[in-house]
Amino acid sequence: MKANLVIINIGVLYTPIIKPPIRGKDMSHILEVENAFIAIKDGKIIDFGNQDYAKYISTETEIFDAKHCIAIPGLIDSHTHLVHAGSREDEYAKLRAGVPYLDILKSGGGILGTVNKTREASFEDLYKKGYSSLDEMMLYGVTTIEAKSGYGLDLLNEVKQLEVAKKINETHPVFIKSTYMGAHAAPKEYKDNKPGYINQIIEDMKYIKNHHLADAVDVFCETGVFSIEDTRKILKEAQQLDFSVKLHADEIDSLGGAGLGVELQATSVDHLMAISDEDIKKLSKSNTVANLLPGTSFYLNKGYAPARKMIDANCALSIAGDYNPGSCPTENFQFIMHLASNELKMNPKEILNATTINPAYHLGLSESKGTIDIGKDADIVLMDASNLNYLVYHFGVNHTKHVLINGKFVVFNRQIVRKK
Ligand code: NIG
Ligand code: FE
Repeated sequence: MKANLVIINIGVLYTPIIKPPIRGKDMSHILEVENAFIAIKDGKIIDFGNQDYAKYISTETEIFDAKHCIAIPGLIDSHTHLVHAGSREDEYAKLRAGVPYLDILKSGGGILGTVNKTREASFEDLYKKGYSSLDEMMLYGVTTIEAKSGYGLDLLNEVKQLEVAKKINETHPVFIKSTYMGAHAAPKEYKDNKPGYINQIIEDMKYIKNHHLADAVDVFCETGVFSIEDTRKILKEAQQLDFSVKLHADEIDSLGGAGLGVELQATSVDHLMAISDEDIKKLSKSNTVANLLPGTSFYLNKGYAPARKMIDANCALSIAGDYNPGSCPTENFQFIMHLASNELKMNPKEILNATTINPAYHLGLSESKGTIDIGKDADIVLMDASNLNYLVYHFGVNHTKHVLINGKFVVFNRQIVRKK
């Protein structure tokens, strides 16, 4: 078979190799191939290695010299709040002065402030802002994301957010998996009637399902937001409709959201800064992935999830960005990877598994994405670094030189390639 494109002179190619979910000690296992090539045809990887690639070359084949960049699979950010209006720099000062995040929400700010702005925003404005954030993520090497609604909190505006995500997915090279998160907070109309809002969410999920606007349902399970019982009720109804389910769990208070996630066979439980030892044990015996978001701990100054304890207990971990205006306002996924090293004490190989194949697994994409392997989508990042450790160590800068999605350059020499 001849290739359309062969990337040669890759300094070192790094790829996960174990079947996901990769857990515990296995998370330190990555295949390394020095002086590698990758052969691509029709958007898929047809071979890679360090042998002779001549058999893949025809007169039509493009040969690209990677000039000793390292190659890794496209990064997968499995938890973002991509589509929203406005920003919350006013609140940043309050947080720094010690006002608790949940108090800001209780007084009608926080998430609810962004809800007001998102309700007022036009489809076009949300589209432009989301698209440009996704450009930024792609420049850092992200090729797939998950994007949640949750700043509309009524059917009309949740659908608006999900349709914006759908249009971005159709027009941007980065692949988006959408999640419905009506249960992000109770909106002001239901301030004193949470059961009424929960019933509304349960109704609205049917519309979201019938219109194929999301694959999963997420709930913010937290003190004063949605209790364990509220969360169980919403997610069980979601499962009846054939959604996969996930939770923002044990972010601030230790409510037992992670344990509930295991009980419901959630695809992931996210945050987990306050997870209990008992729930770590439950997670370790399940296929639910612990999705840690160190950027949120950094921004909220709240302490970090016990990643080492979870790895030692044989849990499967992924790392995500949580890009949103209130608890993690950054699209810099490489900084998130640095925090996973510096603060979660994960090693670079664990971090690579946690940002490629494990998130692909819990998003239901591991058959086509998350590794550099024969038959997989040619989503590849070429980084200007001499090894994987360097990528995690030299922080605050962007190491990405080129990005390919489905075998096409979408970032070339650090610039976005616009389709003509
Ligand atoms: O993942 N925790 C809840 N949701 C987001 C923050 C949303 C916001 O503050 O706007 C999170 O941290
Ligand atoms: Fe979040």
